[in-house]
Formats: sequence, C-alpha cells, structure tokens
Amino acid sequence: MSNKIIIRKKIKSFNRSITVNGDKSLSIRWVLLASLANGISKATNLLESEDVFAAINAVKKLGIVVKKKKKTYVIYGKGINGYNYKKGITINAENSGTVGRLILGLLINTPNKIKLIGDQSLSRRDFKRVGDPLKKFGASIHLKKKKFLPLTIVGSNKLKPIKYHEKRGSAQCKSSIIFAALRTEGTTYIKAKKSRNHTELLCKYLKLPIKLIKHKKYDLIEVKKTNNIKTINYKIPSDISSSAFFLVLTALTDNSKLIIRNININPSRIGIISILKLMGVNIKFKNTRMYKGERISDILIKSTKNLKSINCPTNLNSGAIDEFLVIFLLAAKAKGISTFNDLSELNQKESPRLKWGSKILNLMGIRTFLTNNSIKIFGNPNIKINKKIIINNYLKDHRVFMTSVIAALTFGGHWEIHDKDSIKTSFPSFLKLISQLKK
Ligand code: S3P
Repeated sequence: MSNKIIIRKKIKSFNRSITVNGDKSLSIRWVLLASLANGISKATNLLESEDVFAAINAVKKLGIVVKKKKKTYVIYGKGINGYNYKKGITINAENSGTVGRLILGLLINTPNKIKLIGDQSLSRRDFKRVGDPLKKFGASIHLKKKKFLPLTIVGSNKLKPIKYHEKRGSAQCKSSIIFAALRTEGTTYIKAKKSRNHTELLCKYLKLPIKLIKHKKYDLIEVKKTNNIKTINYKIPSDISSSAFFLVLTALTDNSKLIIRNININPSRIGIISILKLMGVNIKFKNTRMYKGERISDILIKSTKNLKSINCPTNLNSGAIDEFLVIFLLAAKAKGISTFNDLSELNQKESPRLKWGSKILNLMGIRTFLTNNSIKIFGNPNIKINKKIIINNYLKDHRVFMTSVIAALTFGGHWEIHDKDSIKTSFPSFLKLISQLKK
C-alpha cells in the first residue's frame, strides 16, 4: 500500500464535535510511574501510539508485566526497586524523545550496562542535555560522538543528589532529573525554566517527596528519595497537541464550528490557545473541571475571517512548543507580518521544525525570513494555491505530515504528502477524524 496521500480539494464547512486521542505526555508518564508502583495500576484512554508502545516495551524489557484487558491497560508494578536489570539489555525509544530521556532518569541505579537506541530521527537529537546532569548523580554514560544515541548507561549504588539548572524550558530534561532524584538519598534541587509540569503534578498526586515553589519565569523543585510509589488508576484526558491540528483547521475553514471534548488544558500546555486568541480566533473553554491535579475542558472553536498577525510573546513558546508548525499556517493567512522569536528548540524536535515550517510556507508561495532561532512570516489573507506541492524526506516527522494535510485542506492546490504512517507515533486516528469531518 502506498504510504503517501494526495489531496486536491479543500474541506467543506463543518459543524461537529470530536474526541482526539489520549494525551501523549501523560500516557508515557503513567506507564513509567506505574511500572515502579507497588502493585496494579490501570489506565483507560491511554494513547495507543508508537511512542507510548515504546514506553511499554521499555518497561517490559525491565521485567514489568503490561497487559491490555478490553480497553484498559494494566501494569503490574513491583515497587521502586522492581526492575530486573539483566545483562545485555537494549531499550529502543524509537521516535520518542520523551521515552528516551525520561527512562534514563529511572535507569540511574542499574548495575549492568544498558544500551539506549532510537530511530533515525531520534539518533540525530541531543542526549547530552540529559547525559550531563545524570552523570553528576554518579552514573556513567557514554554517548555516540559525546552527544547522540546509541548511548550506554551504568548506574551507581552511591548516587549523590545534584543542583541542576534547566535553562531550555525542556520538560523532558526536568522530568528525567526528577526521576533520578526519586532514587537518590538526600535532596536534589532543580531550578527550571517554565515547561509542561505533568511529572510534578503526578508526583504531587502520588504524595511523593517533591516540593514546588513557583516563580514567574521559573520553578524551584526539591526532590527527595522515595521508597514507595502508590498505584495509579488514570483516565487519560485527550491531547491538546493533537487537537491543535483541528483547531487550526476550523479557524481556517469558512462557516465552521467544532467542539473537541475532554482535553487536558494544563496551563503549561495552552500556549496555542493564547496565540489563537491574540490572532483574533473565536475560541472558548466549556465545562472545565479538575482531574488528579490536571485541568480538563471541552474546547469550542469557530472559523475566523480576519486573522491578525502576531508578534508572538516568547513566554508562550514552551507552552506551544509542539504546535508551532500548524500555528505558522494561521500566520500565512493573517494580515501583516508575524514574528516568532527565541525558537531554536524547534530545530531540536523530530525534524528541524523551524526550517520545515519555513519550507512548507515557501512551497505555498508565502514569504518568510528565517534565522537559526526565529521566523518572520509575511501573511497573505487572499492566499490560494494552484500548483503541485510535494512533501517528502522530512525524517517522518508526524507533525510535518499533519500540518501539510491541514494546509492542503484549507488553502487548496494539489498536494502529495509522503509517509502517512508517521501519524502512528502520536495521533493514529488523525486521518480517520479528518474523513469524519468530510462526511
Ligand atoms: C514533552 C516535552 C517537550 C515536547 C515533547 C513532549 C514531554 O519536549 O516537545 O513532544 O512529554 O515532556 P522538550 O522537553 O524537549 O521541550
């Protein structure tokens, strides 16, 4: 079967309500924490995607039993010291930076060498950013060319707590250090630039020894060793990063309205909502409630005629980090020049996304000015595409694929978009939901 799709028609107006997949960040964190709990944990609406399966396979390699019973995932935790560190284990994080980086924190006490590998995309991403602080705890870590996968880790039984300053706004780095600190006698001090805080919220909910002091631009986090993690039954809410494609699709499609149900709107994840509002999009939360420390809501969005350009406030960057590619499509249609600064991290994702964002817009006939950490987008409210556009060789980055599909459905033209299997990493039902909206 061909792994590319052809789109030649814009989507017609729609007025619907949909549910997207479970939240990826929460699904992976649930798997990892449940694998160290004292007993049986259960989750429903777990995201069934390759990234989450990589997390499940990783804990299985460490001797943890994971089963699916009807729609419920069940993990049989054996306690904080329950991993079976056999000789010669290789863990494959596949495409997932989150799995690769978070699990390393938990492997900090392995007596035997463990090898961590990933796919072609993950193998070009920076693992020194977690390797360096984890070495300070006392682990020995060897990275390919001092920075990349494959890496090997041997832990220590004399771990020392560290002081760590996380300056990038990376939740993966912060979480990896929190996990290592949970295994380490003494207090680990973390000063972290704001980023998604699901790990902290889950630790709090589980009453683990973590203390949070919030400041405007950064958080101070103190973590102590724990001997016991309680089981966690979790109904995973849906993913705002997956919703983002449908939010932009609706904003850009005339006379349309969409409700997306049961979304995790954790304040550290809703940069896209603030950005959409600043651009003049009509978007509202409905039926907001709290669940295990996370904020959940339905999102109501309507099409928007006169999109405003934006000089995107950089304090929204980390809360919208996975959404920028699709946000750039709004800027392409907005009146005026939009500017996005301080975004070098975007080039550290599954593909160099700042470059790819610019490339897709240029193929659409939109002018951009690109640097290593910023992009200016010269919007055209009358944009119409009449030519053929081919999207290929983008390291199978799921978000490049989905952004291209949204562009094709909203701006027209003849699009040939390769590697549709890429959606399996984060949002397997993406194309099915698109076809539902077409009916
Ligand atoms: C994630 C953190 C972000 C994000 C990724 C998921 C997480 O990465 O891009 O998709 O679940 O912690 P960084 O922490 O590297 O910014």
